[in-house]
Amino acid sequence: MKPRPIRCLVTAGPTREHLDPVRFLSNPSSGKMGYALASAAVAAGWKVDLISGPVSLPPPAGVKVFQVVSAADMLAAVEKRFPRCDVLIMCAAVSDFRPKKVISHKVKKGNAPLVVKFEPTVDILKKMAARKKSGQLVVGFAAETKNLEAYARRKLKEKNLDFIVANRVGRAGAGFGSDHNKVTLIGRDGTWLKLGLAPKAGIAKQLITRLRNYFAAMICF
Ligand code: CTP
Repeated sequence: MKPRPIRCLVTAGPTREHLDPVRFLSNPSSGKMGYALASAAVAAGWKVDLISGPVSLPPPAGVKVFQVVSAADMLAAVEKRFPRCDVLIMCAAVSDFRPKKVISHKVKKGNAPLVVKFEPTVDILKKMAARKKSGQLVVGFAAETKNLEAYARRKLKEKNLDFIVANRVGRAGAGFGSDHNKVTLIGRDGTWLKLGLAPKAGIAKQLITRLRNYFAAMICF
């Protein structure tokens, strides 16, 4: 009997946290890394659902895409699909804060100076990792501007992940918005895979290959 394909859930892009109907808090994530991961996973024979924040990328071939806007929308979409996935890859740059109050009409500039109170959003990755069943793999990204590997290792441990992709951001030429990236995949088993500057498609292919090998070894034991 043919084994069933690995079911993978990928998140990509930014989220938008609206203050009013025309203004929001967001970040420069283009979604390119997450979309490249979804494509590489399909190419590896996986069944892929992609939950995407607002980006201007075409849906990758062979992938079911679910569009979301806010961190709360993304949480709901991930929560719904996580129980049926084998591998969760949280590549999305989820906003950590949202305005405490969303105003239903456009705030007029005459209201300046404007003080906005923010509240934290739910950490989707941490919440899903806490629900992880045996046989499920949970992979996070760590977007850092300094102390890259130390902060990434801390997130790996604090969020109880199987792998974390340490990703430097905030510099030209790689990371947010770029077609290229430079990352290190760190496993809870102490393994490291350092991938030098390369197109995101190539980086994605290598990450999926590593995860596929790990997954295959995991289900054999
Ligand atoms: N993440 C998430 N939900 C959030 C924030 C982040 O699921 N509300 C996930 C991201 O998708 C990523 C990982 O957590 O896989 C790390 O995100 P990152 O922005 O690097 O770090 P934070 O955990 O938000 O911590 P900090 O902003 O303090 O670095």
